[in-house]
Amino acid sequence: MFAKEPIDLKKISKENSDKEILRLALCAELDAINFYEQMAEYTDDEHIKMILLDVAKEEKEHVGEFQELLLRRDKEQVEEMEEGKEEVRELVGE
Ligand SMILES: [Fe+2]
Repeated sequence: MFAKEPIDLKKISKENSDKEILRLALCAELDAINFYEQMAEYTDDEHIKMILLDVAKEEKEHVGEFQELLLRRDKEQVEEMEEGKEEVRELVGE
């Protein structure tokens, strides 16, 4: 996780800044999922565990929100994701 922006948004072209913001937001959400799930694994308190896992689940929804916005703006990403899925199907199967 990061306490400050890991990149200087002022140095990014306006054309790409929204995509970069969305990618950073995705990174933050994925980090949050790992953090909450790891903390849930670590605690023996069932209530804390329950809430941590519930929050981790909410973060997964946030990933979906940012991904959807990114995919609407980055058609190359859409194509490359499809290529990646196809490669996995070929190598691993359905
Ligand atoms: Fe979130």
